[in-house]
Amino acid sequence: MNDSRVVVSLDFPGANQAVDLCQRLDPAACKLKIGKELFTREGPALVERFINMDFDVFLDLKYHDIPNTVANACRAAADLGVWMINVHASGGRVMMETACEALDKSTQKPLLIAVTVLTSMADDDLKEIAITNPVDKQVMLLAQLAKSSGLDGVVCSAKEANHLSTELGKNFCLVTPGIRPANSSNDDQKRIMTPAAAITAGSHYLVIGRPITKADDPLAALNAINSEINSVA
Ligand code: C5P
Repeated sequence: MNDSRVVVSLDFPGANQAVDLCQRLDPAACKLKIGKELFTREGPALVERFINMDFDVFLDLKYHDIPNTVANACRAAADLGVWMINVHASGGRVMMETACEALDKSTQKPLLIAVTVLTSMADDDLKEIAITNPVDKQVMLLAQLAKSSGLDGVVCSAKEANHLSTELGKNFCLVTPGIRPANSSNDDQKRIMTPAAAITAGSHYLVIGRPITKADDPLAALNAINSEINSVA
């Protein structure tokens, strides 16, 4: 594993564009995130290809099912050799504990983190599914549940990082999207933070897509972000 804290989000429809980009990046300077679209189109072969190129891979498939099914899916992901995987904390304690136990038997154990409340959901959306807590309270409840179930961390907004880090401790891994260097476009992100501010707030890993993937020189954009992080880390 390298010590880079930038996870480049490969939001591409197919392997060709993703591989083209990764050939222009440095596996020692970043990690990669593969989500549902790319994985569904290209499958484990693409994950293995990036691992063979020496990249650490976060397989962002957000498992949420009965404990046995999630545990077996986690084992299958671990067998691919990925660096990080995730589940929905709302799958509950038994689901998360069973996933941790399954990974403990793995020879190459990835970090296991949880999604708390999707950032696409507001208080009214939670009410509609009979969750009466406001979003911030529900995020904290599910993050605490993830920690006490043995998980390594959660995905969260950098705006929540400070509070979560104070409540859950500095070793609980916080993985944060919505990051924008000071001079770059917000795109469709509404609540953004700069790389330096997110690290200062307690984020461990920053998920960054378009500021790197759409840059004329992706490696230069990545290097600039790494320098900004190193200036505060
Ligand atoms: O291009 P950009 O930096 O906005 O990409 C951010 C990545 O993080 C995308 O893959 C997006 O789906 C993901 N993400 C997010 N906000 C969340 C959870 C995941 O932007 N709350």
